[in-house]
Amino acid sequence: MRSITAFLAGLAIATPALAAVPSLEVPACPDKGTLTYNQSVPDKTNFPNTQVDLCYEDKSISITFTAYEETNFFYNDTYTTNDPIYEYEVMETFISRGTADPQTYLEFEIAPNNVTFQASIYNLSKTASDTAPFDTAYWTDPLTDGFTATTTLSKPNETWISVVKIPLGLFNVDDGQAKGTQWRMNFFRTVVAPSTFPEQVLGAWSPPDEAFHVTRFFGRVLFV
Ligand SMILES: *[C@@H]1O[C@H](CO)[C@@H](O)[C@H](O)[C@H]1NC(C)=O
Ligand SMILES: *[C@@H]1O[C@H](CO)[C@@H](O)[C@H](O)[C@H]1NC(C)=O
Ligand SMILES: *[C@@H]1O[C@H](CO)[C@@H](O)[C@H](O)[C@H]1NC(C)=O
Ligand SMILES: *[C@@H]1O[C@H](CO)[C@@H](O)[C@H](O)[C@H]1NC(C)=O
Ligand SMILES: *[C@@H]1O[C@H](CO)[C@@H](O)[C@H](O)[C@H]1NC(C)=O
Repeated sequence: MRSITAFLAGLAIATPALAAVPSLEVPACPDKGTLTYNQSVPDKTNFPNTQVDLCYEDKSISITFTAYEETNFFYNDTYTTNDPIYEYEVMETFISRGTADPQTYLEFEIAPNNVTFQASIYNLSKTASDTAPFDTAYWTDPLTDGFTATTTLSKPNETWISVVKIPLGLFNVDDGQAKGTQWRMNFFRTVVAPSTFPEQVLGAWSPPDEAFHVTRFFGRVLFV
């Protein structure tokens, strides 16, 4: 595997004004690139350990989300595909191909009961304002589109593991052409108990200065 130093050196030459966001090299499956996080958003206080393993296949990005120290396993069992599962507990990723701070990106979330949310987000102004227009285009047939998910919960181990595949075609990557592509991604987890609902604690790989959708904080990912 190429060294992360070589990857960072290449980026520094190409774009000297990069924000300080984390980077990850991701190999072809079955090898994996692994990131972990345990900081809350936006305060960066202690947050349950969370791990994400990534690799790419011919047609998809394979992502294993692992929630450690999980005690709530809290979801709403009336919610189904593309419902607001983020009001409860989810693990999620934002994904955009390329190196720029994206204006449009995939938002993918999974709940402890294996229900998923998948949509393209279009942030019309890219400015922080409560009234700034923001649109969501849902992917309504995820199985046909090539999204897959498998979820395993272990209450004694306090773990929740969801293994998902995200189709590369959504990002105009043809079959078998993922090697060498560059990405911006972030990863989040929400924690909320029945007793504290709807108040959530959020954690992120690259914690933004406000909750969630601030794309300049998306980390940098290279498929090697
Ligand atoms: C948080 O993550 C860092 C880096 O992986 C690790 O060194 C540290 O022990 C973790 N903190 C806790 C409280 O688990
Ligand atoms: C689940 O969602 C329904 C519909 O919004 C709501 O009536 C119900 O109270 C929710 N259940 C929980 C456990 O929050
Ligand atoms: C739109 O993008 C800006 C800049 O990244 C961000 O501050 C804002 O929160 C985003 N809007 C929404 C509704 O997510
Ligand atoms: C989770 O959902 C997927 C469909 O997205 C399904 O194939 C799988 O069997 C479900 N169940 C579990 C336990 O992961
Ligand atoms: C719980 O952890 C043990 C030890 O790592 C492992 O053998 C077992 O398979 C885990 N159980 C589940 C349901 O994940």
